[in-house]
Amino acid sequence: MCSIIGYKGKNAAAPILVDSLKRMEYRGYDSVGVATFDSGSILVRKGTGKVLEVNRNLNIDQMAGKIGIGHTRWATHGGVTDKNAHPHSACKNDIAVVHNGIIENYQELKEELIGAGHTFASETDSEVIAHLLEIHYSSGVKEAMIETCKRLRGNFAIVAVFQDGTICGARYEEPLVIGVANDGYFVSSDVLGFLEYTDKAIFLENGDICIVDNSKLEIFDFEGRPIAHPITQVAWELGDIDKGKYAHYTLKEINEQRLTVVHAGRQDQAMMNKFCDILASAKDIYITGSGTSYHSTLIFKHMLARFGKIRAETVVSSESQYALTSMDRNSVLVAISQSGETADVLDSVRLARNQGSKILSIVNVTTSSLARISDACLSTNCGPEIGVAATKSFTGQLALIYNITDRLCEKCLETERADLAVAVENVVANQGSVIKVAEQMKDASDIYLLGRSLHYPIALEGALKLKELAYVHAEGIAAGELKHGPLALMEKNTFVIMINPHDATFNDTISNAHEIKARGATVVGISDRNDDVYDYWIEIPHLKEEAYYPVVEVIPLQILAYQLALAKNADPDYPRNLAKSVTVR
Ligand code: F6R
Repeated sequence: MCSIIGYKGKNAAAPILVDSLKRMEYRGYDSVGVATFDSGSILVRKGTGKVLEVNRNLNIDQMAGKIGIGHTRWATHGGVTDKNAHPHSACKNDIAVVHNGIIENYQELKEELIGAGHTFASETDSEVIAHLLEIHYSSGVKEAMIETCKRLRGNFAIVAVFQDGTICGARYEEPLVIGVANDGYFVSSDVLGFLEYTDKAIFLENGDICIVDNSKLEIFDFEGRPIAHPITQVAWELGDIDKGKYAHYTLKEINEQRLTVVHAGRQDQAMMNKFCDILASAKDIYITGSGTSYHSTLIFKHMLARFGKIRAETVVSSESQYALTSMDRNSVLVAISQSGETADVLDSVRLARNQGSKILSIVNVTTSSLARISDACLSTNCGPEIGVAATKSFTGQLALIYNITDRLCEKCLETERADLAVAVENVVANQGSVIKVAEQMKDASDIYLLGRSLHYPIALEGALKLKELAYVHAEGIAAGELKHGPLALMEKNTFVIMINPHDATFNDTISNAHEIKARGATVVGISDRNDDVYDYWIEIPHLKEEAYYPVVEVIPLQILAYQLALAKNADPDYPRNLAKSVTVR
């Protein structure tokens, strides 16, 4: 959602903060702001727009001071306006604060603070934090942080700068991590905020407060008791977060998927055994995730049923409170999440945990909250995914699901693992045919995607990519459902993509394609076999192991969505209204 950063060190803070915000912009990005501390006062510059644009208008990176905080906002409370952009200051301008999360009791606090004579400048829930800090500041920074945190309900990660030049952070149900550099400290929502300067990190836990004061660090809980956390070496490298030769991160990440498939295979065997043993001994298995990760849960369920005759139930995480009601100590919840910070997914985990269930997880960010609260966690190992739309993390999840299935179901998928990487490379290299189809589809207002069996989740995933990147109405449909309603929508100017490799589903889906074509719609086939019914054919490689087809089917759909975004002048890395890590409910 929002990203927050604080810096206190020996260098000019503002250019570092702007750079960090740029790197974390994928988390949320409708407004930007920075506060620096210099010569005894706090200066604030903020406005709506993307980091580079706001920086160009306000010269944020020229602000003086070696201490500062910064924020990119993804609006929740209050419109996208300059005033609602963070940092927020209190009445005396002696404190500035940035916040990620939602303060549920902000109305009540605001009324109380107004009653005590405070004046509010914004419509945000976050501003109450600045005023609460100000009330308690006379008792010292530590007291101010503790008393403020105790009053807040909801979820928050906060970074504040005080008039004495102290930087503080606090975390409750939102991520916050300290970067320990040779010449200073960072407090950030994400390691990407400081990876350029240091790879040493301290991950704060729920209920932690930190103070960086005269270049020393203190961590304590909401009762003021000291806490010690280890310094962790972050595995990601700076090269992983650069676009390199690519125009967009999304394109880079699409192109990286050959490696993704290989890297997902590199698992710690002890952890893999633990994961599979817990799964194998479960009485009930539930699999949960949101968005793209939910589509992976559907593939996982299918794989377990098909190769292990193992029954599992999938639950879209935002629905878990209605669905995860009868778990117990013999149940297992498998949570799939790229970020490991999605609020809905973490809520599902808490729900399952409260019923005594075990938690398994598949994450890409191994330092995430989800990874840390799981009984066993496997990593997709695909490196940082910066583009807001999930691409390589999805194929990484699928590749890992194949590994788990193979380990659980006695090497049922032994064949062709190496060939899958080659097949992915071929699909990635074959972008030309997708670009031609994209040219035909650039004015389409409705796109339907049909697939059966394992290809149905790919129809859903393709539709999600088209919606979020190309802002086009797209719907994934189980091909057999066509006759139960969607056929009524098929007419001239409608585009239908059939996800139809030459496996057991092929003939039935071809029949659907004829029914659609007879109604005047344009039919695009994604398949290893061409057919006369297709108006356009996107060729994918033939695979002996049919279960691997989803990986090579989804890549052309990612490329198509990317190309349609370009045709519409939309920024594929930063789709409107969306954020990479959805840490609010
Ligand atoms: C789609 C997309 C989102 C995420 C969803 C879950 O391209 O990126 O739908 O898949 O927000 O995120 P994670 O996997 O981080 O839990």
